[in-house]
Amino acid sequence: MKRGSFGSRLGFILAASGSAVGLGNIWKFPFEVSNGGGAAFLLMYLFFCFILCFPVIVSEIAIGRKTKKNAIGAFNKLNHRKWNFIGKMGVLCGVLILSFYTVVAGWVLGYVIEMVNGNFDISNDFGAYVNDIENVFLYSILFMFFTALIVSKGIEKGIEKAAKILMPSLIGIILVLIIYALTLPNSIDGIIFYLVPDFSQINLNIAGNALGQAFFSLSLGMGMLITYGSYVDDKNNIVNSAALITLADVGIAFLSGLIIFPFVFSSGIETQGGAGLIFEVFPKIFENLGNTTGIIVGSTFFILLSFAAITSTVSLLEVPVSYLVDEYKVDRKYSVWIVAITILIIGIPSALSQGKYVFFSDFITYFGSDQPIDFMQFIIDISNDTLLPFGGFLITIYVSFVWKKQNLSDEISKGYLNYKGSFIEKYINFSITYICPLILGSIFILTFINKFF
Ligand code: TRP
Repeated sequence: MKRGSFGSRLGFILAASGSAVGLGNIWKFPFEVSNGGGAAFLLMYLFFCFILCFPVIVSEIAIGRKTKKNAIGAFNKLNHRKWNFIGKMGVLCGVLILSFYTVVAGWVLGYVIEMVNGNFDISNDFGAYVNDIENVFLYSILFMFFTALIVSKGIEKGIEKAAKILMPSLIGIILVLIIYALTLPNSIDGIIFYLVPDFSQINLNIAGNALGQAFFSLSLGMGMLITYGSYVDDKNNIVNSAALITLADVGIAFLSGLIIFPFVFSSGIETQGGAGLIFEVFPKIFENLGNTTGIIVGSTFFILLSFAAITSTVSLLEVPVSYLVDEYKVDRKYSVWIVAITILIIGIPSALSQGKYVFFSDFITYFGSDQPIDFMQFIIDISNDTLLPFGGFLITIYVSFVWKKQNLSDEISKGYLNYKGSFIEKYINFSITYICPLILGSIFILTFINKFF
């Protein structure tokens, strides 16, 4: 059977940006910024994205396009079967991420309905809401259903088409919400809080968070871009595409902050930020806008989040699906539904970990800490903050010492005429051999020890 491919260059960029732009940008990024010293965090984040992550993005896409295979098969195809554990780790990591991501996306979807109904009081009951398990399951299943539906239609007719509709809508909604947010009273205080750097806040913990956030947000380190890259044709300029994807991701994360902070500051509501921000504080903010405006702005906001989330869940689902399709010749439709159902089941403990079921909400206590953490947070710690940077580290080692930079350059130059000998080639090669392994490796080890011990 013919393997799918993206129909156009723009289609690939939109799909890959769609994967990158997700809950990580709109929900997680702004409060990471505010916890990490505002613009000080932002600068560090930009440095990580462009200096450390960029060469990894290019490498992943190149490996995928060269082999036209999934995250695991790609290593086999290059005759480095021993290294396919990087891909195996990636597939596992993708499954873990998708398992909790679907739960959070389910909350978001549920909130669209709550906002449409003008039920702003939900903000006082977020704890009860996430423990209303039947409801949470219902929306998670629904969200997974839409995701699976898109993936089952294949690359061009499913993933690409969805991205072409959803990404422009997402950008439109963001711009409208920013304009609206900036007209609110005191919005400027929010902008100042967001953008004035406080360098004293930067420490190892924050640096580790910034790195984890960069990998998570760019969907990096688990073979997602190997998979999408395998559907890209040789004319594509990988370096340009990687730059556009990075810009789109960083840009949208940045713009979300311009919505979030003016909203928070103009509402006058005291908040610690944190994970509950969007679910606990935002409905109150919408309520203060008056009923009709609140319903419109509130539901638009959660629709925005749903759009961002679904282009990401689609990419996460595609990774194991393409593995089954390539390696075991399983029919795409069949493998989509099998994987989707399996992941929903793996997500059950995450859904149950929000308080009511103590076994999952006090799941584990790390060495030297007395605070137990819940199952979902445990999965997030393993996947986002550990496996992703580690996967990225391994990919740089693999490319520089096993696959070899010469092959990387050959692959990139297929779609980039004067790549060889250019400054950008020297930079990518230098970074991938020295800077990336060194910095990724040391931050990874330090944060790993810091987090779990
Ligand atoms: N990048 C997405 C976000 O910011 C999440 C995501 C999608 C992801 N695909 C991924 C994270 C692959 C890591 C790996 O929400």
